[in-house]
Amino acid sequence: MTKQPIGIFDSGVGGTSIWKEIHTLLPNEDTIYLADSFNAPYGLKSKETIINLSIKNTEHLINKGCKLIVVACNTATTNAIDQLRNTYNVPFIGIEPAIKPAALQTKTNAIGILATKGTLSSALFSKTSGMFASNVNVIEQVGEGIVELIENGKLLSSEMETLLKAYLKPMIDANIDYLVLGCTHYPYLIPLLVKLLPDYVKIIDSGEAVARQTKAILEQHNLLNIEAKLSKNYFYTNASPNVMQSLLGSELVAEYLDF
Ligand code: SIN
Repeated sequence: MTKQPIGIFDSGVGGTSIWKEIHTLLPNEDTIYLADSFNAPYGLKSKETIINLSIKNTEHLINKGCKLIVVACNTATTNAIDQLRNTYNVPFIGIEPAIKPAALQTKTNAIGILATKGTLSSALFSKTSGMFASNVNVIEQVGEGIVELIENGKLLSSEMETLLKAYLKPMIDANIDYLVLGCTHYPYLIPLLVKLLPDYVKIIDSGEAVARQTKAILEQHNLLNIEAKLSKNYFYTNASPNVMQSLLGSELVAEYLDF
């Protein structure tokens, strides 16, 4: 079982930002990545639809023999992970906006959260925010349209810059010193965000924490692959592979798969 791959899924290409962190920490683990770009974005869908899509992706990865599944999508985690954990007998790793470290470290007592509507309106997000940030001014912003632009290959475009300027303005006006990225697509925006934000604002995403948690859970279940070998990494998308290919670079291959 230790030699079986880690399965990773997202509503699209964004979760490859999480794959990169996992691969950096666990370079000899084989992985299978599913980008459900055909159904992106998940952030505007009903909870029931998000659960059904998450079940479809999970069953595909389980049928391919995955030993652990990373839900590399904040919207799917906050809406569907309980259901997945209650249904399937493999460990699941989820991803949530890193509100806790931002709320603990802020000096201006104001933090910004950029995430999808589905994440910001979820019960899990309200619980985490209430638990760790009740004394902090939290400026929540729905990143409407961002995932669509990324999925359409318009990552560092002028349209993206216009959207981000509008979304960041209320946060800058509220004097935030931390910006939490609550969607796995958003780490790809960091070069643009750095350009648009004042120098003192720190950007936090959850990628490294998810990779550490993946390693810890593999160890806990005796599933860590300790074989020294080059890993095999498969990337599948149910839309055109071009956008995923451009994010992966030339060393890796993005393939079309109907799932
Ligand atoms: C989306 O599909 O709307 C965004 C995915 C995420 O929340 O990470």
